[in-house]
Order: sequence, then C-alpha cells, then structure tokens
Amino acid sequence: MSDGLSLLSVAPALQAGPGVDAHSPGALAIDARGLTRSFGKGVMRTQVLKGVDLQVRQGEIVLVMGPSGSGKSTLLAAVSGLTRPDEGRVCVLGEDLWSLTRSRIDRFRLRYCGFIFQGFNLFAALTAMQQIEAVLRYCGLSPKERQAAARDALISVGLGHRLNNRPDKLSGGEKQRVAIARALAKKPKLIFADEPTSALDGENGQIVMELLRSCAREQGATVVCVTHDLRLAQYADRIITIEDGRITSTNADPSLFHH
Ligand SMILES: Nc1ncnc2c1ncn2[C@@H]1O[C@H](COP(=O)(O)OP(=O)(O)OP(=O)(O)O)[C@@H](O)[C@H]1O
Ligand SMILES: [Mg+2]
Repeated sequence: MSDGLSLLSVAPALQAGPGVDAHSPGALAIDARGLTRSFGKGVMRTQVLKGVDLQVRQGEIVLVMGPSGSGKSTLLAAVSGLTRPDEGRVCVLGEDLWSLTRSRIDRFRLRYCGFIFQGFNLFAALTAMQQIEAVLRYCGLSPKERQAAARDALISVGLGHRLNNRPDKLSGGEKQRVAIARALAKKPKLIFADEPTSALDGENGQIVMELLRSCAREQGATVVCVTHDLRLAQYADRIITIEDGRITSTNADPSLFHH
C-alpha cells in the first residue's frame, strides 16, 4: 500500500488494462507456474516455495491451508504482486504480472486487487469513512464519489452506524469489517485474504466469510484466502493444501476439514 499511495495518477494508465477474456466467467483469473522463493543467505538460506503451481478460476473462492511456515503467505504475496518470486511465472487476469514494471504492478494492485490481512492495518487517526476514502483517492474518484462509495461499502458490511468512528472506538470484528469495506469499495476483481478471521470470534468470522462469498457471487470477484480456520471450509469452492513449500492437494475434500 505505501508504494501504491505514492502514485499520482492511476486511472489513465489503468484504461489499458488486462484483456477482456481473462475477466469472463470460467476463465483462469490466476495462473501461476513453477514458483520458487528463498529467504536468507548462505547456510541460513531456506527455500520457502519449491516449485508451486496455482490455478484459480474467475469467481472461485479458494482456501489455502497448511501448517505454519509452509509458505502460504509467501505464495499469496507472489501471486498478488507483493513479493517477487525467484523463479516462475504469474499470470493474473491475463497479465504476466512480474514482467511489468514496479509502478505498473502497483497500479495493477490498486485497480484490481483488494487485500485483507489479519491485523486490519487501519490508520489510527482516520475514521472508518476516511480509511476508505483515502484508498479511493488513488483510484481516480472525485471527493463526492469517494464519500458515496465509502458510505455504501460501510453500510454493506453492517457499519452504517459507525461511519465516523476511529479504530480505538471499534471492536475487533468491526475493525475487520472496515478493512473489508476498504478492500471491497473499489470492487476488486481479485481479493487476497491472509488469515482474515484469526483475530475474530466465530460469529464475526462467519460475517467476514459471508461478505467475501457475496463478493464472489454477486460481483464475480475471485477470492484467495489463506487460513487455519477449519470453520471456513464450508465457504470454499475448493481447498488447496500446502506443506513445506509444495502443493499437496489442489482440491482437498472439504469434509476432511469439518469438525
Ligand atoms: N521476508 C522474509 N524473510 C525471511 N524469511 C521469511 C520471510 N518471509 C517468510 N519467511 C520465512 O518463510 C517461511 C514461510 O513463511 P510464510 O509466512 O509464507 O508461512 P505461512 O505458511 O504463511 O505461515 P503462518 O501460518 O505461520 O502464517 C517461514 O519460515 C518464514 O520465517
Ligand atoms: Mg502466513
């Protein structure tokens, strides 16, 4: 987000966006092949992704599950333009993501991707409305449009009565809903969520997943969600499992994950 916010003009460059075919139902929204990624140097070097392929269709809700340290967050970062893989190719909405310049990757993320993280990442000084308006500023909307979109987004996550609250006046569940409203306000084609429910109780976790599901069903958004939370299996079209940097299943049986 920080590098994205330094962009002065997003909208014009985005008009030359990815090909139309990649946005149609059933097309592959994400097609990643042969991803590797290591961290550290010399004897401390560890390979975190060991040749990962990931295909996700447009409108699909995919959960990525696996033990701590197995490479889930690294994979999410590699397919969403946040961390460059050492090897491999990531095609997202028809764009060869890592062949783009850094600033085009930033613009791509701003225009097409919504991110939801465990820690909410809200600005302490801003109200719920301002959190969303700040992001929409960089999507080429006028102040009036930004205000209307921010209000609509907060109402859609059930926070119409909390528009002017700052984070310290919001519960954990409400904070996560603001973060979701912020991610969804620009109607992203792709939603990347990393442990979006881990700081929430069961009821708030369910609300979060229902919001993500309605985004997929109503707006055709593609959702890739990393989680340890077995209760989320019921919301997934598909569950992918990863262990020690390798995909172990691309279509795990959701009933295996039920309590
Ligand atoms: N920027 C980094 N620098 C060094 N090591 C890293 C970095 N990012 C991740 N790692 C290491 O890579 C491994 C995999 O990390 P990753 O965050 O992808 O795991 P994860 O599956 O998301 O785990 P968790 O469920 O605990 O979030 C870990 O051992 C981690 O320490
Ligand atoms: Mg992680």
